[in-house]
Amino acid sequence: DPPNLHMDNTASVSRLNCRAKGAAAGFRVAILGAAGGIGQPLAMLMKMNPLVSVLHLYDVVNTPGVTSDISHMDTGAVVRGFLGQQQLEEALTGVDLVIIPAGVPRKPGMTRDDLFNINAGIVRTLSEAIAKCCPNAIVNVISNPVNSTVPIAAEVFKKAGTFDPKKLLGVTMLDVVRANTFVAEVLGLDPRDVNVPVVGGHAGVTILPLLSQVKPPCSFTPKEVDYLTHRIQNGGTEVVEAKAGAGSATLSMAYAAVKFADACLRGLRGDASVVECAFVASQVTELPFFASQVRLGRIGVEEIYPLGPLNEYERAGLEKAKKELESSIQKGVSFVRK
Ligand code: NAD
Ligand code: LMR
Repeated sequence: DPPNLHMDNTASVSRLNCRAKGAAAGFRVAILGAAGGIGQPLAMLMKMNPLVSVLHLYDVVNTPGVTSDISHMDTGAVVRGFLGQQQLEEALTGVDLVIIPAGVPRKPGMTRDDLFNINAGIVRTLSEAIAKCCPNAIVNVISNPVNSTVPIAAEVFKKAGTFDPKKLLGVTMLDVVRANTFVAEVLGLDPRDVNVPVVGGHAGVTILPLLSQVKPPCSFTPKEVDYLTHRIQNGGTEVVEAKAGAGSATLSMAYAAVKFADACLRGLRGDASVVECAFVASQVTELPFFASQVRLGRIGVEEIYPLGPLNEYERAGLEKAKKELESSIQKGVSFVRK
């Protein structure tokens, strides 16, 4: 055995605590569901994010191993693991941003709504703890069905008297990431140079890419519009089928979640002009929640942009999207109210 192992550990834990306390420059982030398919690569990427000073990894299984593994990375963030419901409150205390990828994923043949029965309860429990322990934190909801889990979190926060619509965001970034990739492929561009606004929600026809507003400005044939809209709306199903029962998108999702979390943290830091798409409480349509481009700032969502001019194809898509969204939102709301 190496000499003084226990003493060395004690000393290093106390130094880590000092570092965590003194790390005023960075933000404290908790990941709930950190040992899962998304949670693990998300935890790894957040450990690499220079804006993060403290990273809390919470799950109902396997966090000791994931935390030990990730804590060996020689980056700035101090990592702490939390296991099981009895450590949930501790995991949430003092954090600035909570990211929630907890819950079951789809298998082939399932819709995201088929996950409602299990994931609704998980998101409700986690949201109750957030309301109690970090009511001012920004919350990024990844757990599906996002169109219902965000309204669930909102209802829980309303019940607790802590709801701040500026701080609750459903993560639809993967739809934008996919849209950028597929559109760049069609245009023969580098995806990093392409930005496609994707509005509505995060399931099937509620995912509405605004191909008329792509940057850089470009035009598509009707066939390309059909192909791209269908591919973007079914990107999740494409991965679910390719994984053939082993789950849904995890790696691209972790990438998208970090891209989005980083934008939230840059907003919190006070950076100007941080704009991303997210599913938020909104007055952009008559629905209480809707995904559109939002400006992120020190208090969360500081501005929600209108949809802009839509062409006929997009207007028809919007009507379909709103119909499905309305019932998914209502389903989430009634789950908490009943
Ligand atoms: P996974 O099964 O690999 O991991 C989920 C993790 O959640 C597991 O480690 C599990 O132990 C944990 N968990 C379960 N109940 C929990 C609880 N009460 N508290 C804390 N943790 C709990 O699944 P995954 O592939 O990581 O997907 C997770 C969720 O994200 C799914 O609902 C999936 O549909 C969704 N998802 C959303 C998007 C999006 O774009 N928003 C993209 C991909 C996946
Ligand atoms: C995705 O878009 O990849 C996720 O919502 C997971 C899924 O079930 O498709």
